[in-house]
Amino acid sequence: MAYSEKVIDHYENPRNVGSFEKDDTTVGTGMVGAPACGDVMKLQIKVNEQGIIEDAKFKTYGCGSAIASSSLVTEWVKGKTVDEAQAIKNTDIAEELALPPVKIHCSVLAEDAIKAAVKDFKERSQK
Ligand code: FES
Ligand code: FES
Repeated sequence: MAYSEKVIDHYENPRNVGSFEKDDTTVGTGMVGAPACGDVMKLQIKVNEQGIIEDAKFKTYGCGSAIASSSLVTEWVKGKTVDEAQAIKNTDIAEELALPPVKIHCSVLAEDAIKAAVKDFKERSQK
């Protein structure tokens, strides 16, 4: 199966790989796994006082499409509010990366990860 150029670009030059200190109250962490293949994705956001995502990082143990999807999402969320980030849809990711049908679940993983990260952030910041 051929990967699209955008997938290969993100796979070879992943943006924002790494992690933040999990216990930082300005950080939200989403850790999700794909039942279909066992791949795991961790996505983190760092949020400022205005509720804007200043920075994002990821670590993905998975296929090229999963890495590309998480890399893309870390780029997309920067400068967005947490609510805007939560509204990102896997179909937007799949379309941007031109993912074939068998790789759609890789983009679902990225949507799940960003939603989980925002949820985690909201829970911690309300404490
Ligand atoms: Fe595991 Fe995608 S199936 S790498
Ligand atoms: Fe399972 Fe991509 S995340 S094959």
